[in-house]
Amino acid sequence: MKVTFKIQRFIPENDTKPSFKEYVVEAQPNTTILDCLNDIRWHYDETLSFRRSCGHAICGSCAMNINGKNGLACQTHIQDLKSGVITVKPLPSFPIIKDLVVDLDKFYEKFNKIKPYLINDEPVPEKERLQSPEQQKLIEESTTCILCAACTSSCPSFWADDDYLGPSALLKAYRYIFDTRDTAAEERLSIVNDKHGVFRCHTIFNCNEACPKDINITNHIAKLKTALVTTKL
Ligand code: SF4
Ligand code: FES
Repeated sequence: MKVTFKIQRFIPENDTKPSFKEYVVEAQPNTTILDCLNDIRWHYDETLSFRRSCGHAICGSCAMNINGKNGLACQTHIQDLKSGVITVKPLPSFPIIKDLVVDLDKFYEKFNKIKPYLINDEPVPEKERLQSPEQQKLIEESTTCILCAACTSSCPSFWADDDYLGPSALLKAYRYIFDTRDTAAEERLSIVNDKHGVFRCHTIFNCNEACPKDINITNHIAKLKTALVTTKL
């Protein structure tokens, strides 16, 4: 069948503002949006830019706005979409570098702020730092994040304050704060207890809607808030 794509284009050297360009491609119901974008780039318009790598919902690089909803192009199939014309835009609220490619530098800076690595200066045990299944369960869901930025881009609190840490960085903070092998929970709680931190979350749930890994991000952020009001820093 023929499928029409309306894709937001912006080439900074030529354009003063973004505009839309239409492309018609041949596709099957189970063809992914990424396959269609590749087809457009390889056969119709080599100037079209977008990020992609794994093609299997693992690397997080193909997040974009598809028919008004953030998601992964490689995980979204034609049959998942209702509208006849498929509108594709870059992730909202990030500066556009070109076409569907956005600038994620500030997103990663916030991520680095919460120290996204295990901190533990205690002597290294002979084998490994063990966790019980219950302790692992506490952080299991949060470890499945692929850093695609779809959640942060869909968050109204981030739209209003681009210094807000955002759901993705807060989820990563949770991942280490609740990791029983880590010893820097208080330090990280102080970092997220900033005016651009966890209490900027107004429990709107857009992040949950956007997450391609179905992580209940809002629930994790709520647990961070509880930890902050019950911990003496
Ligand atoms: S929490 Fe979900 S939406 Fe947010 S960065 Fe991770 S995988 Fe992407
Ligand atoms: S290309 Fe890797 S997540 Fe889509």
